[in-house]
Amino acid sequence: MGRCPGCEGWNTFQEEVVYRESEREKQRERWRGNQSNSLAEAQAVPLPEVQAGERVRLKLPDAELQRVLGGGLVPGSLVLIGGEPGIGKSTLMLQMAMSLEERVLYVSGEESASQIKMRADRIGLVNPDCYLLTQTNTTQILQQARKLEPAFLIVDSIQTLRSPLLDSLPGSVTQIRESAGELQRFAKETGIPVVLIGHINKEGQLAGPKLLEHVVDTVLSFEGDRNHAYRILRSLKNRFGSTDELGIYEMRGSGLRPVSNPSELLIAQTDEQLSGSAIAATVEGLRPMLIETQALVSTAVYGTPQRSATGFDLRRLHMLLAVLEKRGKFPLGQYDVFLNMAGGIRVQDPGIDLAVISSLLSSFHDIALPYHSCFAGEVGLSGEIRAVHRIEQRIQEADRLGFKLFYLPRSNMKGLDSSRYAIELKPMGKVEELYHELFEL
Ligand code: TYD
Ligand code: MG
Repeated sequence: MGRCPGCEGWNTFQEEVVYRESEREKQRERWRGNQSNSLAEAQAVPLPEVQAGERVRLKLPDAELQRVLGGGLVPGSLVLIGGEPGIGKSTLMLQMAMSLEERVLYVSGEESASQIKMRADRIGLVNPDCYLLTQTNTTQILQQARKLEPAFLIVDSIQTLRSPLLDSLPGSVTQIRESAGELQRFAKETGIPVVLIGHINKEGQLAGPKLLEHVVDTVLSFEGDRNHAYRILRSLKNRFGSTDELGIYEMRGSGLRPVSNPSELLIAQTDEQLSGSAIAATVEGLRPMLIETQALVSTAVYGTPQRSATGFDLRRLHMLLAVLEKRGKFPLGQYDVFLNMAGGIRVQDPGIDLAVISSLLSSFHDIALPYHSCFAGEVGLSGEIRAVHRIEQRIQEADRLGFKLFYLPRSNMKGLDSSRYAIELKPMGKVEELYHELFEL
């Protein structure tokens, strides 16, 4: 059918195979195997009597990945790792496969065996028990996997898989759903954890939409700016751990290097004081992290002032500029504003606002901020500086790295024992107050 009479869109129909009951039963039988609980015997049990029987997780040598997964791979779990093309998903997984001392099966439907070999050579790790299969047919993949019995299975990528049970093209919604379903049944039945790689489309959605998120146990997202070296691995859903954890990597010529101490990389520790640069004490996930924010405010050359932000939400920048304009009477509407986060890292913590505002003002006046100072605080619409979470962790991190001044929301001071830190705390209530404190104008 060409045009949908409902939504009037062209070629929007997707093929969906409806099995006749007998075929569906046959298909179920294949994986049901020796599962004893047939439908007739199903019985509800009181929850306290259920045996948890936590099975041993597969430990990974990569501490970042291990932590993001909530402490290793759970047997029989299905993990989806999504990210834009070229961000390093295949590298991350191949690296994990090569660094384990277990049998691993790496299935690729994207690249040839020689391409993968070349990447493995760059990474420079060797696992003699790592097997490679270039195949897209799910039946054949699972056949091989059953034969090899690996400690875990990697599939690169879910969009290339094709189940012979369906006629539709790889990458279509029905194919993705069916292939993911087959892999999930395989994982549950054999206890072999399966990692799926999935591409993200232009809108930032996992292609083969949201439906995959319900099928899998864990969804990880690999993000970063391709032109920068740093990558963040976030957990968006995890049935076996917290989603607050996050891993940081640096892309090098020889693969991805876990960064265990991000603060030291994300701030340029020069003794020269530059205007427009402020250090933010942020918390990403559960981790405190100091990041340098850089702003450039300059007279608009063209009629309409430009605003651009890397690693920061542009709408939030507009909001902060409006606050400064209204509350502080700075004529920023006539200026071009550029904002950068060091390393191209995308910051989600609203506590970075105070550093952004400070760097904007510093660039506007062309006056450097006080020596060895750093900032944490969210800025509200009326220019009030609001409390942030995990303030102690932020202060400790700044203290540890030798900072001298810490600007923070006044409302965060309650119950804070400042004598525990060498760093001097500067509580601030409003943006105006911060302004007078910083520039004394
Ligand atoms: P890749 O893992 O192929 O990305 P994805 O599977 O997410 O599409 O890696 C993409 C980029 O990483 C590629 O442009 C080259 C770079 N890279 C390095 O810089 N160093 C390395 O050691 C490797 C293997 C890749
Ligand atoms: Mg790839």
